[in-house]
Amino acid sequence: MRLTILGATGGIGRLLLPLALDQGHEVTAFARAPEKITAKIAAKTAAPNSRLRILGGDLLNPTEMAAAIQNSDAVLSAFGPTTLASTHQRRNFGHTLVEALRTARVNRFLHVSTAFLFRDGGLLVNLMANTLFHNVTADSRDCETEMTQPDLAWTIVRPPRLLNGPPTHRTRIVAGHLPQGGFTISRADVAAFLLQEAVTPRYIRQVVGISN
Ligand SMILES: NC(=O)c1ccc[n+]([C@@H]2O[C@H](COP(=O)([O-])OP(=O)(O)OC[C@H]3O[C@@H](n4cnc5c(N)ncnc54)[C@H](OP(=O)(O)O)[C@@H]3O)[C@@H](O)[C@H]2O)c1
Repeated sequence: MRLTILGATGGIGRLLLPLALDQGHEVTAFARAPEKITAKIAAKTAAPNSRLRILGGDLLNPTEMAAAIQNSDAVLSAFGPTTLASTHQRRNFGHTLVEALRTARVNRFLHVSTAFLFRDGGLLVNLMANTLFHNVTADSRDCETEMTQPDLAWTIVRPPRLLNGPPTHRTRIVAGHLPQGGFTISRADVAAFLLQEAVTPRYIRQVVGISN
């Protein structure tokens, strides 16, 4: 498949990129700091670099985004600012991506959101969503509102706390809910799920909870 990865320089994206190449896909990484996608990442894959295209640009600019995702079969997003302060970056990113998808006539995308948006995520998730992560939660909600358009084939993935380390291959996925007692998931398992869902769509126009 021809895949575009957004957030390829981040924790999930850095794992997703070599995984996609190793599975034989053609990958475009569109990043504001493309120099971060170095030989270090490419060295993690045996796949020929001719299937990797790295583009630098502004992920909040719809024209640049449309040019980057042109001809993609699917866009995989692990975009996300790290700030806990009040921001509209996620919402603006969602708005930009939707505009670009329509311009480029690309229909399918997946985006990593947050389990804070589950109302039935449990006491701890609710507490964090309403206190320390209040701004993240509000902006993520706005982002999902922008993204969940009826004319596009979206899948929103809401993980709880992300962990580093190897894939566990014990991923639980529940449409519309956080899996029971799911407090963490490894970034590697999220990356694997994104790729699997891009190749074999099972959750089109659905929000999915994912955890170990
Ligand atoms: N951390 C958690 O426990 C947790 C839990 C649930 C959900 N999430 C969500 O999952 C997302 C992905 O996780 P992660 O660990 O892979 O995140 P991460 O390591 O922080 O990576 C975020 C990616 O977004 C990019 N980005 C951020 N702001 C940008 C901007 N203004 N313009 C262009 N690119 C921008 C970063 O690019 P640069 O490298 O250029 O900064 C990076 O590639 C998070 O951002 C969050 O929304 C996180």
